[in-house]
Amino acid sequence: MDDLDTLTTSLLAEIGRAESAQAVEELRVAALGKKGSITLLVRTLGAMDAEERKAKGQAFNVAKDRISAALDARKAEFSAREMDARLAFEKIDVTLPVRHEAQGRIHPVSQVIEEITAIFADMGFTVAEGPDIEDDWHNFTALNLPPEHPARQMHDTFYLPSRPDDGTSMLLRTHTSPVQIRHMMSGKPPYRIIAPGRTYRSDSDQTHTPMFHQVEGLVIDRDIHMGHLKGCLEEFVRAIFGIPDLTYRLRPSHFPFTEPSAEMDIGCTRGGGELKIGGPDWLEILGCGMVHPKVLEYAGVDPAQWQGFAFGLGIDRIAMLKYGIPDLRAFFDADVRWLRHYGFSASDVPTLAGGLVR
Ligand code: DAH
Repeated sequence: MDDLDTLTTSLLAEIGRAESAQAVEELRVAALGKKGSITLLVRTLGAMDAEERKAKGQAFNVAKDRISAALDARKAEFSAREMDARLAFEKIDVTLPVRHEAQGRIHPVSQVIEEITAIFADMGFTVAEGPDIEDDWHNFTALNLPPEHPARQMHDTFYLPSRPDDGTSMLLRTHTSPVQIRHMMSGKPPYRIIAPGRTYRSDSDQTHTPMFHQVEGLVIDRDIHMGHLKGCLEEFVRAIFGIPDLTYRLRPSHFPFTEPSAEMDIGCTRGGGELKIGGPDWLEILGCGMVHPKVLEYAGVDPAQWQGFAFGLGIDRIAMLKYGIPDLRAFFDADVRWLRHYGFSASDVPTLAGGLVR
């Protein structure tokens, strides 16, 4: 016991005199390491009889804990001192000028999605999303395009292997319209959403790429009528192009998921291979209509109580028109020189009037 007391006293004194974190660590090894003085002493317990082992074992443990605690405390002192020294030494000079680094640019498609979102958010819309990999039922059937419907031909897309569990046919969605179905099935009416996102068709030329972007709109309530559709879309086209008196017309059309259906044309000027928004000519901009009762039924919404409108438009074309970008394919070439030219800085905030401030 005397050995233990002497050893403990001298170890505690040494710990008190240690002058660095490293010295403390060395003392820990010397005392509690595999061949440390305390460890060796504890080992002598093995040779004692049960009675003695019980009495001394306890004393050994107390000594071990005291030394361990002293080592920890001394180490903490050094850590605190080190932190104080670093705090005193490392300073940030907030008066230094900004370092100019190569800046990332915002893609025109992202920019236009932001602008569209800002305009519809002002009209009380929220943003909904759906998967790019869609099943046949959401993409076609629930939108009143049954398997034999000829309009499916216009939506030639990329088909994936059927789901092994239940044989569901899977594909890349050909439009954002299936988000209407998913959104309606995910909660109760009323609904007021836009759904921007990627869409796919096997098309490729100067104005078509196999992957492109659309934004869908859906408004369902008790007494939503075509007047609401007209007012909402008028507000939208005038805001997105920043032309307060932009002319437009709704031309009767057909979509299986709306009845009646229309296409919206806006005024434009054509000449010398150029296309300008505003003017006496007409440019088709989007499809829209009153949501077909069958679509509501498929989505579990009672068409005797709820009605409303939907619309869908291509985002990439809006970006081309608004920012004078001639070739759609370059959008997806991932060429940083193109992006530096046509891209936006993060501080270009979209506004309702101009779309953005540059
Ligand atoms: N889904 C149609 C398409 O790609 C666009 C569309 C038309 C969406 C009319 C609608 C709508 O919601 O009402 O081509």
